[in-house]
Amino acid sequence: MSQEKYILAIDQGTTSSRAIVFDHDGQIVSSGQLEHEQIFPRAGWVEHDPMEIIRNTNEAIGQALARADINRHQLEGVGITNQRETTVIWNKNTGKPVYNAIVWQDTRTQRICDELAGDEGADKYKDRVGLPLATYFAGPKAKWVFDNVDGVRESAEAGELLFGTMDTWVIWNLTGGVNGGIHVTDVTNASRTMLMNIGSLDWNADIADDMGIPVSMLPEIKSCSEVYGYGAKNGLIIDTPICGILGDQQAATFGQACFERGQAKNTYGTGNFMLINTGTEPVASKNGLLTTVAYKIGDAEAVYALEGSIAVTGSLVQWLRDNLGIISEAPEVETLAKQVDDNGGCYIVPAFSGLFAPHWASDARGVIVGLTRYVNKNHIARASLESVAFQSREVLDAMDLDSGVELTELKVDGGMVANETLMQFQADLLGVPVIRPEVVETTALGAAYAAGIAVKFWNGEEDVKANWHEGERWNPSMEQAEVDRVYRLWNKAVDKSKGWVD
Ligand code: G3P
Repeated sequence: MSQEKYILAIDQGTTSSRAIVFDHDGQIVSSGQLEHEQIFPRAGWVEHDPMEIIRNTNEAIGQALARADINRHQLEGVGITNQRETTVIWNKNTGKPVYNAIVWQDTRTQRICDELAGDEGADKYKDRVGLPLATYFAGPKAKWVFDNVDGVRESAEAGELLFGTMDTWVIWNLTGGVNGGIHVTDVTNASRTMLMNIGSLDWNADIADDMGIPVSMLPEIKSCSEVYGYGAKNGLIIDTPICGILGDQQAATFGQACFERGQAKNTYGTGNFMLINTGTEPVASKNGLLTTVAYKIGDAEAVYALEGSIAVTGSLVQWLRDNLGIISEAPEVETLAKQVDDNGGCYIVPAFSGLFAPHWASDARGVIVGLTRYVNKNHIARASLESVAFQSREVLDAMDLDSGVELTELKVDGGMVANETLMQFQADLLGVPVIRPEVVETTALGAAYAAGIAVKFWNGEEDVKANWHEGERWNPSMEQAEVDRVYRLWNKAVDKSKGWVD
């Protein structure tokens, strides 16, 4: 067994929890991964079992360490990255959640959001928190738990409950849980709650009060790179510093080395999330993007981003697999799509959770349009892939307008970037080169870098840049007239999806 040193990244994602060991070159040494159940109690509701997530996280850590044949003494630090906004409230004395985690895709808080908006509208808090009132964010989800789960308000008032996004839940458990677990979050995750002032990076007591959430149950907001605590005595990472936290999309931005103003990345996961670095001042969006914290390294100034969040991209492929059964494995979608030259006139708008950026249309629902007897499952597969690229084009257009800088290239990562058909179509639609790095696990890598920088395993952003290498590049090749034609039809399809919910 060598005595080389490593960093462990934990990626608590929407569909699975993973642990990845990275070496000093930013290369993957080993990994472990377990999927967790997606619980759909009603149409539009999505939940996870927080206890299952903790069990899976621990098992994934065990797998990753065993596969690399390394022990905790060889880990210099642990970084956490996570699905953002997903909300859990638990009892700090028993360690038990009072309700399942309510997932970012869940739309049950629509009425709460409408009520909070009142006459002032969805942008009521936007100047303070950078976000419109929408079912996506954590604060209204916590309010739902308070309003609907018996005894929660009383327990909260008695000081027994803690609130967290998944970073907070995972760290509290890894650092000891009921036996002294630390209760922290970082600026990126906090920037998705609707409860943090986007400028001063502290909790906004007035908004918390509007939502009926006691500030005392909120975690302490930390930077993305500092030692928060150490692995608990009874765990797998005993005494190892836990020293990095970044929401998954911010982690990917960091792992893609988007450190300069105007640099952007697009991650193709369950949903798609495009972030553009806007520097050390928050920029307000006029075109349906979110203002969010990109990262804050220790005591350095926070760096901000504009984000275009798309709720459903990869999860549409899962839907083809699990709900329609037209594929048995996700990669088959490309095999089907390649059987045909085009979408056969079929367009799919997967507004399963309404439409996020740039529309924020919670009354939208999914549509498949342009059907004829000619359309077959290959066209459906192709239209599904195309919907991912069309939605990203909408977001890129908004970014160009908001940032005043035209993007000249786009760095991409996430599971779906293995799909060559999608990547080529994406470059065609955007009219700029699409670039995939050598290491596509940029989310976990970003969290590893944040942790490694805190303990001086890496010196800083220069090391991250030096480790970033271009893997593959797709250049636009479609005729502009054809791009314009298909995009016009896409926009017609989007109009059809809106206003469906009464
Ligand atoms: O905002 C939601 C996002 O963080 C979820 O990402 O990759 O877990 O689907 P992912």
